[in-house]
Amino acid sequence: MGIFGRVADSEWAERAAELRDLIEYHNQRYYLDDAPEITDAEFDALVSELTALELEHPELAVADSPTRKVWGQASTLFSEVRHLTPMMSLDKTTSYEELLAWAKRMERFISGDVAYTCELKIDGLAMSLLYEGGRLVRAATRGDGEVGEDVTANVATIAAVPHVLAAPAPDRVEVRGEIYMPVSAFDLLNRRQAEAGARTFINPRNAAAGSLRQKDPAVTAGRELAFWAYQLGTVEGGPTFSHHTDMLQWMRDAGFPVNPNIELVHGLEEVDGYCRRWLERRHSLDYEIDGAVIKVDDLAQRRELGATSRAPRWAIAYKFPPEEKTTLLEGIMVSIGRTGKATPFAMLKPVTVGGAKVSLATLHNEDQVRIKDVRPGDTVVVRRAGDVIPEVRGPVLGLRPEGLPEWQFPTACPVCGETLVRLDGESDTFCVNDRCPGQRVQRIAHFASRSAMDIEHLGERTVSQFCRAGLLADVADIYHLDYSKVAQFEGWGETSIANLAAAVEASKSRPLANLLVGLSIRHLGATGSQILARSLRHLDRIMDATSEELAAVEGVGPIIGASVQRFFATPANREVVERLRAAGLNFEGPAAPELAQVLVGKSVVVTGTLEGWSREEAEEAIKARGGKSPGSVSKKTTAVVVGSEPGAAKLAKAAQLGVPILDESAFADLLETGELPDPGDAAGAGRRDDEPAGTGG
Ligand code: IVH
Repeated sequence: MGIFGRVADSEWAERAAELRDLIEYHNQRYYLDDAPEITDAEFDALVSELTALELEHPELAVADSPTRKVWGQASTLFSEVRHLTPMMSLDKTTSYEELLAWAKRMERFISGDVAYTCELKIDGLAMSLLYEGGRLVRAATRGDGEVGEDVTANVATIAAVPHVLAAPAPDRVEVRGEIYMPVSAFDLLNRRQAEAGARTFINPRNAAAGSLRQKDPAVTAGRELAFWAYQLGTVEGGPTFSHHTDMLQWMRDAGFPVNPNIELVHGLEEVDGYCRRWLERRHSLDYEIDGAVIKVDDLAQRRELGATSRAPRWAIAYKFPPEEKTTLLEGIMVSIGRTGKATPFAMLKPVTVGGAKVSLATLHNEDQVRIKDVRPGDTVVVRRAGDVIPEVRGPVLGLRPEGLPEWQFPTACPVCGETLVRLDGESDTFCVNDRCPGQRVQRIAHFASRSAMDIEHLGERTVSQFCRAGLLADVADIYHLDYSKVAQFEGWGETSIANLAAAVEASKSRPLANLLVGLSIRHLGATGSQILARSLRHLDRIMDATSEELAAVEGVGPIIGASVQRFFATPANREVVERLRAAGLNFEGPAAPELAQVLVGKSVVVTGTLEGWSREEAEEAIKARGGKSPGSVSKKTTAVVVGSEPGAAKLAKAAQLGVPILDESAFADLLETGELPDPGDAAGAGRRDDEPAGTGG
């Protein structure tokens, strides 16, 4: 429910029609009769209400809504407009040394103290908004800097762009800034595109550009676009300004969203500090930035500095290293996982992006390949941000060779050759041959992996080698390895064999939950394994339980229950388990829990870095008390624990759903008591302060 909670569902359409009539009526009084009956603020409130209503209920939007046009003008969408003052570009730096060189160049024109405004460089679309008599008359893209495109009708649908200014304004004033799409809105839009089987957007910037370049403003109105104002262009008439910071303040007063992370600093060391800080923090924002923009604050100094033919001397862009690069998609292959899942992955011409060399990236499943529309031979955009795994975002369509065929998902398993199966309503495709060597290697390697039995020296390559030599056929064979045969492989001396044997021996006493994880039971992950081990406390009880009994365990549910039951009902699996028992593996679960199970039925999401817990420890602490700690926020989330540099999407989602946000001390209380703090003193719940006004719901 959004801000129109007070109006019953059936009344929305009626209210929208009423608002449209009112706005049309007052537009006529203002423009035709020159006799307004209400104040500008009252008029603006009507437009804001209608805009928000249409954003919240896109089905109510009609093409000729007054939110979609600037009154009194024929549509000029995409016609050429010459900027009153050219929109110049910026010189760029990537280092402190280059910043120093810039300051040195300025010393030829100005002397004395220089104050700098440091701003975030928003990765969106530069926009020029022209106001005459305090009203929006034209919105234009940058174009080549001299001539742009008229996008007034589309920009007029963006809630963050005021139609009428709220402060005394120069007769004619041009506000410049960046149109962008919040990351959370971009994620949502792409999810919707994917659900509709439509092509997804590569990044928020492309999505914003695509949303703005619509012939029908109703489409733009349905997309969540926002705006940060950061510069004035042409100014005719008072008030006059002496500093950039004054202009920023005026823009705030006039009703523009001005980014809260702008700082006025003295000296280049502070400038450098600002840039480094935001390079670190860039992912804590709900919008993308690709650097910082440093501007001389004093407008008199700016005039003395002037400009070269392409850029002002008084400003410079500090560019961050890119997190997206393009490269050639050389091929798409399919790998077979331990459950038989066939996962397509991209083979890329190696490219360094986000600080790492990338040559492979998962494409998840057949549908993902289709909605991203990537084809072998395409130039694709690859993204790697922070420590997130690399991702293929989509093709650069302009560079696609003519006639490039679509990629087809293989019909046969690339390892065993059996037919691949995709069930109705499922997005994943499977090799269902239990004897598939591809699956076997993955299953054994997973059993030995750290998250399961943690058998060092038994990685995927070794497992594959041992399987090929006939030393391993299933996980129980690990405990009957013929070490005399291992000794014949290259690189296996006495010490390495002794190490492997010791690791195999040590694995026999791993907790039951790890053994369950190691068995590769479909749908059963680490959390489900722990719950089963803790509640049924012996593998025999788990094996003998009916699917109903399993599903009845708090936190398990029917899908896992049925899958676990099916696994142990399969004679081949039972046989492996008996051989593991004979080898002496631990089948017993932990003794009754010592910790009070205060979080049973609760779901607590952790984001950002906490001081007292690592991420794993925090999640463990939640699970050890009977709670869940999933990786994303939903309406079932009890609370979100926020450390430093939290994930923007999670915070935005929590704010949107009204999920309580806890700081570290409230988290400690929650672990002890299972209680949330009183809403009155909850740590910082709700809206983030760097959200532009009017984009919330
Ligand atoms: S000021 C003459 N401030 O960066 C100075 N630009 O290469 C005009 N940008 O096209 C620009 N954030 O689209 C300025 N805080 C900011 C900015 C910013 C992003 C973009 C803008 C411009 C490009 C310059």
